[in-house]
Amino acid sequence: MLSYRHAFHAGHAADVLKHAVYVFILRYMQQKDGGMLLLDTHAGAGEYDLAAPEAQKTGEFHDGVERLLAASAEPPALIADYLALLRGQADYTALRRYPGSPALAAALMRPQDRAVLCELHPTDHAHLARWARGRRRVSVRREDGLSALPTLLPPPERRALTVIDPSYEVKSDYGAVVDAVEAAWRRFPAGVFLLWYPVVDRARIDGMEVSFRAGPVRKLFRLELGIAPDAPGRGMTASGLFVVNPPFTLPDAAAAALPWLTEALGARGPRRADWVVPE
Ligand SMILES: C[S@@+](CC[C@H](N)C(=O)[O-])C[C@H]1O[C@@H](n2cnc3c(N)ncnc32)[C@H](O)[C@@H]1O
Repeated sequence: MLSYRHAFHAGHAADVLKHAVYVFILRYMQQKDGGMLLLDTHAGAGEYDLAAPEAQKTGEFHDGVERLLAASAEPPALIADYLALLRGQADYTALRRYPGSPALAAALMRPQDRAVLCELHPTDHAHLARWARGRRRVSVRREDGLSALPTLLPPPERRALTVIDPSYEVKSDYGAVVDAVEAAWRRFPAGVFLLWYPVVDRARIDGMEVSFRAGPVRKLFRLELGIAPDAPGRGMTASGLFVVNPPFTLPDAAAAALPWLTEALGARGPRRADWVVPE
């Protein structure tokens, strides 16, 4: 039974890190003319109304995208395109709406790119399907994103950026996503995979790392930003991303951006940018 709704959390600090990295990788991959598949296994609602009761109830966007938009320092390369995209739309700048990963993809897609968005929650699937209506080259599926992976990869384009952004509602999700990435990588070792994780209980992330180190996937980089020091039992204190086949520019860009983001978001937790599995 799914209960997580991203509408309560849209624009929080974890979204800022995740979406900045997503946009950075997407823009890097678009330096080649060939079309690509943007596969979003856990797409959410597409775009979020920050005036809605859900976002207002938690107010999490105040400590995330609101702080980011208020930052006056020149943004580093990892953040620049994402921030420019937010600043380029009045509704985003005014914090009336916030783009989820599907809206970011739609804003940046070229005619030769296409997006496939999986979302299981009935309410969010309905929002997503409404949002996607009339958008060409965007298809929405109400199906389990992890099960969809082997049916969609490798894509005919032979290029894909897959974002895997589960809600981790059940503890087995931490192992299931590692298994799913490994299985997808075996089918399509050239694919770029972006796997988001929350630090709620550090041992779970250590477990993912141990599994990845013992597994087949090569070229696996990780970035993490802690809003607060680890504190088991006190909710999410940090979040991170495992990136398979990152752009060669990502490690340096991450090293430069994490201190900047720490300052912009008022973060106080650990930050990391390192190779989990090198080439
Ligand atoms: C963190 S939210 C996604 C946010 C979105 N990727 C973004 O960045 O804007 C996770 C979403 O996954 C959905 N979900 C949970 N389990 C799923 C599954 N097995 N397959 C597809 N979607 C799922 C939830 O309903 C929720 O909307």
